[in-house]
Amino acid sequence: MKPADELEARYIAAHPRSREHFAARAESTPGGVAKGAYFYRPYPLTMERGAGAYLFDVDGNRYADFANHHTGQILGHGHPAVLASVRAQLQRGIAVGAPMGHEKELCEELRSRVASLERVRLCNSGTEATLHAIRLARGFTGRNRIAKFEGCYHGSHDAVEISVSPPIEAAGPAERPLPHPQALGMSAGAVADTLVLPLGDLDAADRLIGEHAADLACVLLEPRAGVLDLPADFIRGVRQSATRHRVLMIFDEIVSFRLARGGAQSVYGIEPDLTTFGKIVGGGFPVGAFGGRADIMDRYDPAAGSGIGQSGTFASHPVTVAAGLAMLRALTPAAFERLNELGDRLASGLRQALTDCPVPATALNAGSAFAIHFLPEPPRDYRSSLAADKRWTQPLFLGLLERGFFLGHTLQMCALSTPTTPEMVDALVDAVAGALRDPAVRAAATGG
Ligand SMILES: Cc1ncc(COP(=O)(O)O)c(C=O)c1O
Repeated sequence: MKPADELEARYIAAHPRSREHFAARAESTPGGVAKGAYFYRPYPLTMERGAGAYLFDVDGNRYADFANHHTGQILGHGHPAVLASVRAQLQRGIAVGAPMGHEKELCEELRSRVASLERVRLCNSGTEATLHAIRLARGFTGRNRIAKFEGCYHGSHDAVEISVSPPIEAAGPAERPLPHPQALGMSAGAVADTLVLPLGDLDAADRLIGEHAADLACVLLEPRAGVLDLPADFIRGVRQSATRHRVLMIFDEIVSFRLARGGAQSVYGIEPDLTTFGKIVGGGFPVGAFGGRADIMDRYDPAAGSGIGQSGTFASHPVTVAAGLAMLRALTPAAFERLNELGDRLASGLRQALTDCPVPATALNAGSAFAIHFLPEPPRDYRSSLAADKRWTQPLFLGLLERGFFLGHTLQMCALSTPTTPEMVDALVDAVAGALRDPAVRAAATGG
């Protein structure tokens, strides 16, 4: 067997039942995965169960979970308060086509945490949250175009899945990026209606916002752009630019709400006009939420007949609301402090371990979310991330699975949960060092 194949061969030998599941699924769902994000080579693990900070696959292997359901399971798996709340709700009713009282508590919980939230609406996903916030911004301002930053992901609807990871030859000049659809099949009109701004370049972004202000409904910004370290001045500058040009500012806190009790906006000291949420707000169930200024949100008041609306069969789902309430209530300031300290400890340990990598590599964290990059410095934006030596991503991911650690398979969207211990964090650092020394990992990365 060629050394380059050894790592995958070991993976296949250790995961025969996952392989059977994959093959069986492939008959009914394209690529053997029920959603794209599940896929990695040679085939994804099928998990049997999750408990606390651990996942168990169908082949009987245990993993410390450092992905936590795309960062959403901030309390880990099977948190007693979430389970109790969900069980109680299941007894009351799964979905009854009417409010059940506790949605007010979830909205209040969000409002009590985030100063800019005067009103809140609930939906089913982060994608829906950005969709509705953008539509609301358009309806409120009467303007059609929207602005977003290159390299930033805000969900999978046509208005925002633009210039997320464009081919560089189609991306246009750095200070004036061109909109590029992420996938075939997207509306050309949506692409034309999206102004793409350069991330991190405040002067250029401000200039573009100013030039297009008469047509622009909103500027959408995710404060950590995944797990990047955007300068606070940039984030505050975008807020000021939007205000100066009378364009609404939508802050996407779908991931960054795990940074602090009041979200990233409390850390940077800004007040967006609208904010979108998802992930941790649903306690592990499908969720989206958005809200902000009362004068904007109150256009939804059905009695006012403004022509602006939002609903959905499963929006404000009672079980989601019960789970989300339990999750948020468990997230005390002390819980955030501990998680963020663990995130710092992990990132600095990883940076040290990654010095042994034969190619330049580094790690960074945004509180309890973290990412590994095969670059000498963390990327500043999408374009600087393109220099990464991506050959190392899958071998390191597989090497960590072998050592009992489950990360996001891109090594970009990884996150801690409250049951994670400092010992587990240090063990992950050791595992990274061990994997990087493993000849099979090195051979897989370098092709031989
Ligand atoms: C910043 C950001 N916005 C929006 C979304 C979309 O959320 P969802 O996957 O719940 O539709 C995601 C998902 O990862 C995200 O990371």
